[in-house]
Amino acid sequence: MNILIIGAGGFIGSHLSEAILKNRPRWNITAIDISSAKIEHLLNYSNFNFINCDILKPSEILEDVIQRNDIILPLAAIASPLVYVQDPLRVFELDFEANLHIVRLSAKYYKRVIFPSTSEVYGMCVDDEFKEDDSNCVTGPINKQRWIYSCSKQMMDRVIYALGIRDNLDYTLFRPFNWIGPRLDDISNPNNGSSRVVTQFLSNILHGKNLNLVGGGQQIRCFTYISDGVNALLKIIENKNNCASKQIFNIGNPSNKLSIKDLAFKIKQLALTYDRLKENAEKIDIVDISACDYYGEFYQDVKERVPSIRKAKNILDWFPVVSMDELLKMTMDFYFK
Ligand code: NAD
Ligand code: UGA
Repeated sequence: MNILIIGAGGFIGSHLSEAILKNRPRWNITAIDISSAKIEHLLNYSNFNFINCDILKPSEILEDVIQRNDIILPLAAIASPLVYVQDPLRVFELDFEANLHIVRLSAKYYKRVIFPSTSEVYGMCVDDEFKEDDSNCVTGPINKQRWIYSCSKQMMDRVIYALGIRDNLDYTLFRPFNWIGPRLDDISNPNNGSSRVVTQFLSNILHGKNLNLVGGGQQIRCFTYISDGVNALLKIIENKNNCASKQIFNIGNPSNKLSIKDLAFKIKQLALTYDRLKENAEKIDIVDISACDYYGEFYQDVKERVPSIRKAKNILDWFPVVSMDELLKMTMDFYFK
């Protein structure tokens, strides 16, 4: 199997590449990214071919590599909420326009596309648990620019779905729910909003800064360990009896459901057990901050986000196994041991 991973140098791409090289040695990977910092340890594998290519710039490379591969995973995107509110057009250009080009090329050459949708497409949906084929996708007003990410991804989902109907494009859409683990974000950047919440809290403690609870921290997320997510992706790539074809799957861990406030206290407590963090963890506080003060006026939050994973269980025979405590410990060991 020849697999093209665009954005292979990112958090999900690097873990997926690593898992394939370790566990599926007969698969070949063509990896595209503008950075190889997180995949330096993979560059010597003979079945891993890294190409430094910016998908925002016109180039013949993309069409060429798409033709030469069987499965296309377009993972390159901006996935940080602060950028949605500060530079929404950049999000649109990369997450929608550049990815649309890749999907169209994949359809042109009859390739299978495995596309990262997101838990964010459900937006402010009020369902207790979000279901792939039933739940509404609910976003806020246009002046809340945060929704450009959700809308860009939703539009990609809709285009891919329509290509599946009209042109018989073979695809799977997967929706990660807050995947966490080693290499998630760069914690050396001390600025608020520079990374996703778990790594943001770790970065704050490392730099001796308080942990901020946006809007009081009552909002709920379900955190999923990266190895659980990657196991689902391997099953989707394998696609036994075409079970994953033309399907959408939530990939999340409903058992790891907790509020951001509880997350902050858990992380602060755990930080006391790490030599590099202990001193700072003792002196920092957990403080409330308004969403406007933290992200600016263009932000709107998602109050509660819980996936139904029944479909992934029934069709892929997949379920997550890593608990919240294990997930935080493994992530913190990576950054601080
Ligand atoms: P990431 O930011 O870690 O990785 C994205 C990669 O894309 C980076 O390595 C980056 O260098 C690369 N990239 C950016 N611009 C590029 C360009 N112009 N040309 C080539 N490469 C470029 O993100 P991630 O967490 O690994 O997410 C991967 C995908 O999964 C994204 O589409 C994201 O929206 C989606 N997703 C992730 C999560 C999550 O929990 N991590 C949740 C929902 C959806
Ligand atoms: C994330 C991002 O949009 C994407 O990475 C991704 O597609 C998707 O959701 C996902 O991972 O499923 P969100 O969960 O809101 O969105 O992003 P985080 O930055 O991880 O924030 C989680 C919650 O913590 C938000 O409510 C945010 O306001 C809050 N937060 C964040 C704080 O209270 N304090 C902080 O310092 C940072």
